[in-house]
Amino acid sequence: MTAVITQVKGPAAMKQGADRFPRNAWYVGLWAHELPEGKLVPQTILCEPVVFFRKEDGTAAAILDRCSHRFAPLSMGKLLPGDRVQCPYHGLEFGATGACVKNPHGNCTIPNAAHLRSFPVVEKHGFIWIWMGDRVADPAAIPDYGCLDTSPEEHVTNPGYLKIAAHFELIVDNLLDLSHTTYVHEGILGTAGTVVANIAVEQSGDVVVVSRPSKDAETPGMLKMLSGFERGDQWSTISWYAPSNLILEYGVSKVGEPKEKGTGYFALHLLTPETERSTHYRYSAVRWNVITEGKESNEEIREKIGKLRTFAFAEQDAPIIEAQQRRMDESPTPLNPTLLAIDAGPMRYRRVLDRLLQQEREANEASQELVGDTRKAS
Ligand code: FES
Ligand SMILES: [Fe+2]
Repeated sequence: MTAVITQVKGPAAMKQGADRFPRNAWYVGLWAHELPEGKLVPQTILCEPVVFFRKEDGTAAAILDRCSHRFAPLSMGKLLPGDRVQCPYHGLEFGATGACVKNPHGNCTIPNAAHLRSFPVVEKHGFIWIWMGDRVADPAAIPDYGCLDTSPEEHVTNPGYLKIAAHFELIVDNLLDLSHTTYVHEGILGTAGTVVANIAVEQSGDVVVVSRPSKDAETPGMLKMLSGFERGDQWSTISWYAPSNLILEYGVSKVGEPKEKGTGYFALHLLTPETERSTHYRYSAVRWNVITEGKESNEEIREKIGKLRTFAFAEQDAPIIEAQQRRMDESPTPLNPTLLAIDAGPMRYRRVLDRLLQQEREANEASQELVGDTRKAS
């Protein structure tokens, strides 16, 4: 069925800059395995250079990857005993808190201005999470990806990584409107029968959930591999955790049977803005209620799921999203999207994102006013 045009008024022209990145939020900095002991690992996050490393106790740390002296990347330097990072250019040393702890030059005094910013980091669910904002970071606010910790390894696909040349919001739009699976991923993740009329959007706090059930539809290749069903009742229920982490429950049951008797996977999508036009995209899939038998055969299925999903994202989604971004950037005038029924999910999450960004702006303005008042008073 063709989606209908709604009367909903869209946002003013779509804006896509770094001013759309909330800073007081948890982002995935790295998969945990991307941070081996003894290595300095650079990563640009929200347009800021960050260097990650493991301290001698094994916990992760992150500081600004730009020396305060002449701005060389510290990630090109050395990790020294005592959790110290030595700048590759003139040898200033920095601790895990960002404090400059050694100046080998002159009388060796350390100017106050030499200290660098550090960022709160937490290792959880196989990811190194980072907090780029100035408000207190609460680890309890990290979304629950616990299925990665508790599922047998033969049911968890290898950690995936792609860099997509687009603003992160275009990828969230893609994931919160899975009607595209019928067209972009035809036969693999969607079929003609999985275009549905009844999309439900729910919101709980800052979490937006978009559900798309389809009844008695031809089973796409991925779900056929997991279930063996030629047709089935299918569903995709995707939850967005502000600003850019998502979990999709994707599954199929025999026609007329309850979900609990079906099978599928949780698809984990973790987006971290790199710049205004590039996004780190990490992903994995965790099977639930597995009905195929045998460890070896399930390991083969796991490999196939991983390969198919990487193909779908890298060869099908990314080219469209990146081309969409280029088209939008080429336009000499601001663009207003025509809205369809399928945009209910993207519209809802943008409202939440707009509110969070507004709250952050107001908090920044208030703290700047406070600083101004304090200066006047002193
Ligand atoms: S640039 Fe780092 S010490 Fe000079
Ligand atoms: Fe897709």
